[in-house]
Formats: sequence, structure tokens, C-alpha cells
Amino acid sequence: MEGVIDAVTRDLLTREEGLDWTVTEFVRVVDTRLPPRVFYKHCLELHPEARRAGAQDAVTTPSGVPVHLQLLGSDPAALAANARQALRLGAIGLDLNFGCPAKTVNRHDGGASLLRDPRRVQRVVSAVSEAVGDQIPVTAKIRLGFADRRLALACAQAAEDGGARHLVVHARTRNEGYRPPAHWEWIARIRHHLTIPVIANGDIWTLADYWKARSLSGCEDVMLGRAVLADPGLPARIRHWQRCGEQLPATTWRHRAAILDAYAHRQRATLPDKVVVALLKQWLNQMRGRDGEAARRFQALRRETRLTPFLAGLHAEPGGLAPSTAIPALAD
Ligand SMILES: Cc1cc2nc3c(=O)[nH]c(=O)nc-3n(C[C@H](O)[C@H](O)[C@H](O)COP(=O)(O)O)c2cc1C
Repeated sequence: MEGVIDAVTRDLLTREEGLDWTVTEFVRVVDTRLPPRVFYKHCLELHPEARRAGAQDAVTTPSGVPVHLQLLGSDPAALAANARQALRLGAIGLDLNFGCPAKTVNRHDGGASLLRDPRRVQRVVSAVSEAVGDQIPVTAKIRLGFADRRLALACAQAAEDGGARHLVVHARTRNEGYRPPAHWEWIARIRHHLTIPVIANGDIWTLADYWKARSLSGCEDVMLGRAVLADPGLPARIRHWQRCGEQLPATTWRHRAAILDAYAHRQRATLPDKVVVALLKQWLNQMRGRDGEAARRFQALRRETRLTPFLAGLHAEPGGLAPSTAIPALAD
């Protein structure tokens, strides 16, 4: 996720159980072949020094979870050239972004703007698939459309016809932004139409959401975005339930605080303390909608700009925090 998930975050989140693979923030392709440093910036795991000892070909997080690189653009030739560049650098999977709703991206003809013409989706997927041949999988991510859902099936079919090995569907149109609800039942329509695996995405925040998304879409596999930040224990709960039908307990605040703490210590090696505090607030902000204690800590620490007191505030016993309105814990 752009501006939110980097290699450090991927490392920490994949130490938890349940994630099969991860995808980088998108690399924006316009009309040139980008230099290796741009690919390394988005996907540090691709850098030769970051490759795991003894597994030179693996582009994975330190816990061994594969990292696929995402490309965003509309020029088939430029995307193909960058796909070849990514392959040369060792990428193990390429995902194509047809879902980004950002105005600047769409104005420059990228992301969800291609959903207005399924032929363009197909040309992009085909060009990239041909560029990398059978060497690595090419996958695609779409929304249900740009302004409406009329072309949802046609765009999904275009991705399949272009050679996508799987399709992730964020069950909203571009104009719906991130507004609930996600229309999971539309994913079922797409799934019935295609032969490649379809993965459901959008608004899966809890195990109960997973059950509902699964039953409405028919997809066993889901892609989690914001929820993994909000609740890093959710993938493990989903995986555990898939394996044995049991519910693991909710993620504790202590567990979340330990992840935030590890994140801060990793980021402070390269970033100024103030920036680390801003990043911590960004992550805590994601957590607070799903956890009462995270909401209380966010409230108490929102004006703190110094790293040491911020970290102390994360770990303080509840009574040691500045008083704030009591916020009830949210159930999973
Ligand atoms: C801040 C932010 C950045 C995102 N960046 C990307 C991105 O780079 N590539 C992508 O495919 N999706 C991106 N997304 C979309 C998410 O991957 C996901 O499709 C969307 O948030 C809906 O799923 P969720 O409800 O599980 O978050 C981003 C979403 C947010 C909120």
C-alpha cells in the first residue's frame, strides 16, 4: 500500500502467521524504463544484499514470505520494458494495478482509469505477460469499474485473456473510493465468469467479515489491505479458522504495542525521530478503529512529537496515561 507499507512493515507483518505473499506499493511507469534504484526503493527485498542467505533467488521477507512487485501504468510498451527490467533484477512475480482511485494517478491515465476500456486492460496484461513469458507469474488487481459496474465482467475477462494468473477484485468502483459497503456478491459473478483464481478484497476487517465475504463471493482466499495494519493478528485468525474451524482470541494491545515498538526501533536506524513518531501515529491511527486501547493511546499521544515519551506511552500501564474519554474495546 502506497506510502504505508514498506519493507520494514512487510517484515514485521509476515512474522505473524497467515500471509501467503505480499505485494509492494506500486511502481509508477510512464514512458521510460526505470533504473534499478527505483525498483529497489519500492522492493528492498529485491536488492542482492537483502536476498536471504542460502536462497539467492528468493525475493522474500526475512520470514520467507514471497514479495511480488506491483506496476502501475497505461503504456503497454513501457510496462513491458519495465517488466523485463524487473525480471532481470530478479522479481518473482508482477502484479498490475488497475484499482488505484487517486485523482493524480487517474488524471495521468493510470490505475482505475483503464477500467473504462477493457481492451486497454487486456493490452497491458498481454504486453507484460509476453515480456516475461513463463518465467514469473503476472497477476492483476481491479475494482468493479470506474464510475459504475457495467464493465466489471468485461475487465475481469480482459485480465484473464491477457494472461493474468490470478485476479484480485476490490469490490467497489473507483468512484466509491473506500466507502462501505464492499459489494462482495459481485466478486461471485466475476468468479463464475473466469477460469483463473479470483481473490476477494475490500473491507475485510474481522473474522466475521471474512466469513461473510467468503460466503458471498465464494472465494476461500482474500487479500487484506488496511486490516493487516489495523489488526496484525487477523491473517493468523483467518488461517487458523481455515485449518481447523476454531477461533483464536482477539489480538491484544500488548501484541500490537510490541509490533509498533519493533517498527520504531527499525525505522529510527535510518529516519529522524520526528519522522518515526509521525509514522507511528499513522499506524496507531489505523489500529484505533479496531481496538479500544489503541484508540485511547492515540488520543493520549496525538500531540507527542518526541520518540522516547511516545514509546513510553505505548507501554505505560493504563493508569499512567493522561486521562481521556473511555473507549470501549471493539469486538472481533
Ligand atoms: C493508503 C493506501 C494505499 C494503497 N496503495 C495501494 C497500492 O499501492 N497498490 C494496490 O494494489 N492497492 C493499494 N491500496 C488499496 C488496497 O490494497 C486495498 O485494495 C483497499 O484498501 C481495499 O482493501 P481493504 O479494505 O482490505 O483495505 C491502497 C489503499 C490505501 C488506503
